[in-house]
This record gives sequence, C-alpha cells and structure tokens, in this order.
Amino acid sequence: MTQPVLAVRDLSTHFFTDDGEVKAVRGVSFEVMPGETVGIVGESGCGKSVTAMSLLGLVQRPGKVVHGEIMFKGQDLLKLSNEELRHIRGRDIAMIFQDPLSSLNPVLRIGFQIDEAMRAHDKIPKEDISHRGIDLLKQVRVPDAAHRIKDFPHQFSGGMRQRAMIAMGLSNKPDLLIADEPTTALDVTVQAQILELLRDLNEQTGAAIILITHNLGIVAGLCKRVLVMYAGEIVEEGPVEQIFESPQHPYTWSLLRSVPRIDSNRQDRLLSIEGLPPDLIDLPVGCKFNPRCPFRIERCFSEPPVIEDVAHAQRAACWVTMTRAYDEMGAANITDTSPGAASGVHPQGRRPAADLAVAPAETLSD
Ligand SMILES: Nc1ncnc2c1ncn2[C@@H]1O[C@H](COP(=O)(O)OP(=O)(O)O)[C@@H](O)[C@H]1O
Ligand code: SF4
Ligand SMILES: [Mg+2]
Repeated sequence: MTQPVLAVRDLSTHFFTDDGEVKAVRGVSFEVMPGETVGIVGESGCGKSVTAMSLLGLVQRPGKVVHGEIMFKGQDLLKLSNEELRHIRGRDIAMIFQDPLSSLNPVLRIGFQIDEAMRAHDKIPKEDISHRGIDLLKQVRVPDAAHRIKDFPHQFSGGMRQRAMIAMGLSNKPDLLIADEPTTALDVTVQAQILELLRDLNEQTGAAIILITHNLGIVAGLCKRVLVMYAGEIVEEGPVEQIFESPQHPYTWSLLRSVPRIDSNRQDRLLSIEGLPPDLIDLPVGCKFNPRCPFRIERCFSEPPVIEDVAHAQRAACWVTMTRAYDEMGAANITDTSPGAASGVHPQGRRPAADLAVAPAETLSD
C-alpha cells in the first residue's frame, strides 16, 4: 500500500504569552499522499499558518510545538535537530508564502537566488544548476526567461515574483510543496494563472501540494481534498467536491454560504458568519463553534465533539451534523443564522446576544 508522504498526528502548538497560553493548534491530525493536493481552509486566525510553520520547525518563541508527531517519509520531523530540519526544508519540503517580496532578497538577482536554493542542498548536480534556473523560470511561465533571470526582484511584477518563488520552491524537486495564501496579494486574473500553474506543476512533477487559504473558491480550483480548520482544530475533512456538495459541519456550511459561487442560484443570499472566532486563551467549553452555531444543542456546551466518519472519506466533528440540521431544523430554508436560531437552544443563564463577540450596549455600561 502507498505510504503517505506526510502524516501529522495530534499536533498541538501553543504560544506562551504574557496574557496566557494561546492554544493556536490543538490535536491536528491529517495525512497527505504522494502527489496529492490538499487544501487547508478557515477564517483568519484559525491556525493554518501555525500548522504549516510547525511542520517545518519554523515556529518562533513564545510559540512551541507541545505535542504530536510529524512523519515525513518515515521520519518524525519533531525529533530532528535544527540542522537536519534545515536540510529537509527547501530540499524535500518547499514552502511559498503570501508575500514573495519578503522571501526574496532585494539586492540579489532572481537567477542567483534560484541557483542558491539549489546550491544550499546537494540534490541537483552542480553542472546542472545554471541551466536548470532558466528551465525552471520557463516551467513557471516567466516570459523571456533567459533574460529575466538576470533581473532583480523589484523588476518583477507581483505575479512574476510569485512564479519565481514557485520556481525556487521546485528547484530541488521537493516531494511536498506548502503554499500559504500564495495568491492572496494578487489580483483575480493573476490568482487564476498561479493556480493553473500549480495544478500543472503538480501533474508534471508529482509533488504533493498543501494549499493554505481562507478562500474556499481557491481550494476548489486546485485541491482534491480539503481540511477545514476552526479555532486551531480540524473540524471537517473530505474530498473537495463532496464537501462542497454536502458539508456536514455547520462551520463548513457557513463558510460555503459566505463564498460567492459561480454555479449558485441567483436567489441565494450570501450570508456571513455571525460573531468572531473564540479567544484561543480562553476557549469555550464543549464545541468551540457553539457561540456562533445556529444548530447547537445542549450537548454542544458540555462535550467537545469527536471527529468521526460522516460519509465515505468524509469526517466531521459535530454532535448534530448538517444532515440532521436539514431533516430536523429546516436548515435548507433558514435565513436567520444567528447562534441557536435554528435549534432554539440558548443555554440557561445566557441571553442570545451574550453569545456574540460584540457585547450589547447595556452590558458595556455595567
Ligand atoms: N507570535 C505569536 N504570538 C502569539 N500568538 C500567536 C502568534 N502567532 C500566531 N498566534 C496565534 O495563533 C493563531 C493562529 O494563527 P495563524 O496560524 O497565523 O492563523 P491563520 O489561520 O490566519 O494562518 C492566531 O489567532 C494567534 O492567536
Ligand atoms: S451543532 Fe454543536 S457540535 Fe455541531 S458545530 Fe454546532 S455547536 Fe458544534
Ligand atoms: Mg495565515
């Protein structure tokens, strides 16, 4: 049987700040198969980047991986020294970030930086390095690559810089490419071109890709499978088409309803998710989504749901799930998505408004 290229088990990363312990990533487990394209989505602040940084040993103080196992091609990355990890970063696992300018050195030519990425690891034979730089730029579709390779980063547009970063990332033929919001800073047309490029490169090179984004539409453009994160946890995962068709976690359902869909019925209203993600220092008891969930039941306030199979290849962490919300709470037709609106559950001692991140005026004047 094919082994996963990456197997993350029960990963937790916390930040030990003056205000308290920020539990940014908690108990995250997932696998990536060779050549697979996996998306990680969720609102800003839900732990996507910290998860990626944890994989590569890039979490800075006051942050620390407090628990877990990160098996990459049979070895636990958390057990490696910094030196050993440095060898894996950029050689076997490459990472590209939202802002290529901050990752490129402004005073060095693009070609030199791509060559350096190869020289830093001895995976590519020395005699191949110089012509491979041009080939890579061609592969990421930088026009006139033989000349542009001598440019400095500021001579490249934002989209071209991101292409150069992807070329650098691919230079050592990695098994895994982690792209953290790689298109967020780009306009929509360039965004689509970069996604198409990543899709083609995935097919050509066979490198697995983890694409991190807050935008579910972008996931649909590239990934076969998606992990949905909320407040530091994976709350749902499954094949992209299936998750789009039949999300089972209310958070995924809400995310999908807040994304414009090309194929959606024009009468559908775009609904935003009310409230804000919880404070990661002082998390809600039970399900972390309970302060915002229209479908919550009493159990959600006492027991954290366990992630379980909800369909073939699909898992979700929810005591209710959308199938039941459709059957019993009329989820298909609800227009009020405020906390507890569909289920009518407003726990004793709490008024509905107290669930929202913005406190009502009378509380403020207390
Ligand atoms: N240096 C830091 N110090 C304290 N908390 C941090 C730090 N970096 C990240 N965090 C916490 O981790 C959470 C997750 O961050 P991040 O993974 O960057 O979110 P995103 O999903 O937007 O990529 C943030 O909401 C923040 O509370
Ligand atoms: S129904 Fe309950 S368990 Fe499911 S997401 Fe809502 S609050 Fe969480
Ligand atoms: Mg991020």
